[in-house]
Order: sequence, then structure tokens, then C-alpha cells
Amino acid sequence: MTPWSKTDWRNKPRVQMPEYTDPAALSAAEGKLGSYPPLVFAGEARRLRRALADVSEGKGFLLQGGDCAESFAEFSADNIRDTFKVMLQMAMVLTYGAKVPVVKIGRMAGQFAKPRSAPTEVKNGVELPSYRGDIINELDFTPEARIPNPDKMLQAYTQAAASLNLLRAFSKGGYADIHQVHAWTLGTTDDWSARYRDMANAIQDSLDFMTAAGLTAENSAELSTVDFYTSHEALLLEYEEALCRLDSTSGKWIAGSGHMIWIGDRTRQPDGAHVEFCRGVQNPIGLKCGPTTTPEDLKVLMAKLNPENEAGRLTLIARFGAGNVGDHLPRLIKTVREEGAKVVWTCDPMHGNTIKSSTGFKTRPFESVLREVQEFFAIHNAEGTVPGGVHFEMTGQDVTECTGGVRAVTDEDLSSRYHTACDPRLNASQSLELAFLVAEELQRTREARRAAV
Ligand code: PEP
Ligand code: CO
Repeated sequence: MTPWSKTDWRNKPRVQMPEYTDPAALSAAEGKLGSYPPLVFAGEARRLRRALADVSEGKGFLLQGGDCAESFAEFSADNIRDTFKVMLQMAMVLTYGAKVPVVKIGRMAGQFAKPRSAPTEVKNGVELPSYRGDIINELDFTPEARIPNPDKMLQAYTQAAASLNLLRAFSKGGYADIHQVHAWTLGTTDDWSARYRDMANAIQDSLDFMTAAGLTAENSAELSTVDFYTSHEALLLEYEEALCRLDSTSGKWIAGSGHMIWIGDRTRQPDGAHVEFCRGVQNPIGLKCGPTTTPEDLKVLMAKLNPENEAGRLTLIARFGAGNVGDHLPRLIKTVREEGAKVVWTCDPMHGNTIKSSTGFKTRPFESVLREVQEFFAIHNAEGTVPGGVHFEMTGQDVTECTGGVRAVTDEDLSSRYHTACDPRLNASQSLELAFLVAEELQRTREARRAAV
């Protein structure tokens, strides 16, 4: 790797970052953050990288999910628990259906900063700077609320630390014990919940058998705990730099803000600040690939972000929109193949499928989300490459933000529980439904692979 320091991004062109107006307040906040403990330990990021290396070879599947934007107002133990619980359920469905381990990564404990399509927002003739996530400014439509405030980084850090603490407790403290497979049910009565209960019964049967054979939660960490990782878009580089630390074990730098960080579709300029920061830290890195990603850029980005071609280091997150995957994914697969690059391919079927409902809400139709996933799988199966995972904006809450699903949310329903601070999320029922449908795709992939050998 060419020489790197955690401040070098400051000399590169930056986009989508706030212009702080009070330099003294900014450096005070950066100084404090820099003195605080990092949120994650480098050994955990390396463990995740190994798990993702397996995913890149089809020996695992990646489930990444959570809020579009975490918010200070919605911060509660119940919200964290419910999203965690739905992800456990989804992982169980995928593992049971596809017979591969599922790597679980939350868009949690750090997903606060948002890129925006326009720098300002106009309402009733008044123009104000756009809301950029709770770590930067506030959603209220007033001039004061929209001023970027560096102290918000400290509140975000505190919330991330508390969220991660709870997630670690749930993961290792008994809540995620596979014997709880029934207790994770959602309390709903739709077809998918019934299917989940049937599956849970079958798993319970196998567990009873294993207990009789001597394998219990007490003597098997695999049954009683899970690994759950955190991730977010590394957008606010002042925050990332302040939490970046030198790992004494490896002598390499680590972004201490989360296990995996990713580069957004709007900030992936090969010579830009975000790529410069991310290339120097040892965490697994995600890279959003949208319709405008060119093979030339992808080549340069892969060389910069993964110069040693380490499996598990780089995850390409495809987000083209339903109906468009065939126009874009094959040429990027070709580029990856020509470069001999080791990558995880995952599908974000959210960001290419945002529309305005007839009732004026930003929404995503469930059928478009599903269709993009199906196109992603079909192309990988045809190319003989590995469809490695899915990336969802979702919540454990019973919100009405995306339309469709078995408990059909209509355009008219959207106003009833539309809580997102940013993009529309799948609710718990839609997330579980999608997990069953993705498991079917994975089974088809397994059959296609078997037929090919
Ligand atoms: C996101 O994942 O929230 C996001 C903004 O995605 P993208 O960079 O793909 O637009
Ligand atoms: Co989003």
C-alpha cells in the first residue's frame, strides 16, 4: 500500500460533508472523540473479514440490515432488540433453507450520517440546508436546526457505544441462544409467521435430538451465542478520523467506529476523500456500486481498496434498481473476473427502488425489492459467480414505509406509521417474508451449482 495517514483525506476533494461554521467547536469535539475508547476491537474486524472471505467463496451468506439513518429520538432498547430479533429470525430462515452460515451485520451503532440528493431543501418558498443525519444537524425545518453542530458527534458516539453494548449483551448473554428460536417470533399471524413457527418446530426437534446426544447450550458456544457485527457508511470523516486507531497487534490502522464501514454511491470518487480514508484502515470495506459505476472506476477502486487482493476485505454492494440489474451487473462481474479480484457480491435492493407514492410519501414497493434480488441471483447463477448476500433497510418495528408484502401496505396506509428520518424501511413482517423468498433463491443457487459440477 502507498503511504497513508489518517488525516490525508483532508487534502482530497470531498463531497457530501458538512461545512462546520465554528472551527474551535469542531476541534474541541474532535479532540474529545480522539481521547475516547474505540467502539470495536481490531481482532473483531479481522474475524469478520475471515467470515466474509468464506462468503466470497459461497461458504456463507451475508445478511446486512438496519435503519437508513439511526436517530437520536428513536433510540431505545426496544428498537434495538426488535431489529436484532428480526435479523436473528431472518438469519435462521436463511441458514435453515440454504444450509450455509449467515454472517450478520447491522446497519447499527454508527449509521448516522446521510448523503443527500440536494444540498438544500425548499418548503413553501423557504430554502434551508438539507438534513444530513442526526450526527450532523436536525430534521426540524428551521435555520437553527439545520446548522451543522460538531457536538452531535459526541452524542452519536455515546448512542453508538450504548447500542453496541446492548447488541453484545444480546449476542453473547443468552438472548440469541438458538433454543430461543420460538421466543423470537413477532406475535403476528400472517402466513410467513406461521411458516416461521413450523420451521422453529423442526429446529426445536433437531435441538432436542442434539441435547439427548449431549450437545447443549452449556457446552456449545455455537448454539448459545452469535457473532453480530456493526456497520455504517463512513461519510463523516471527522468522526471516522477521530476514532481511527493504530492496532498494536497488527501494526495496522483500524476504524474504531464499527466493524465494517462502507463507501456510498455518491462518495466513491477514486481520488476523493472517502476512498482515501477507507483504503488505509484494515476493516472490511463495502463499496456501493450503482448504475453510474464504470468498469474503469471499479478497477481503480479495487486496486486502491484491496491492493493485496485479500478475500473478505472488499464487499461490492450492487444497487441498480429492479429491471436494471441486467444492464449493469454483468459488466462489473466481467471487470472483477478480468482483474482476478476476490470480492463479496451483495445486493442492496433498496436504494435503486425508491419512488413517490400517490399519497406523496417516499416509498419502495416490496415487489421491486424482491425483483431486484431475484435478478441479482439469476445473473450470478448464469455467470457462475457467487451471490453472497443481501443488504436491507429494515426495522423490527411495525412501520408502514414500504408498500406491499403479504400484509399488503397500500399507498393510503403509508401515513399511519411512517417513522423513518430518511429512507423507507421494510417492516418486521416484510423483512421475514423477504428472508423466506431469499432462502428460495439460495436453494436454486445450490441446485444450479450442483448441476454444474
Ligand atoms: C444508504 O445505504 O443509506 C445509501 C445512501 O446508499 P447509496 O450510497 O447506495 O445511495
Ligand atoms: Co438509505
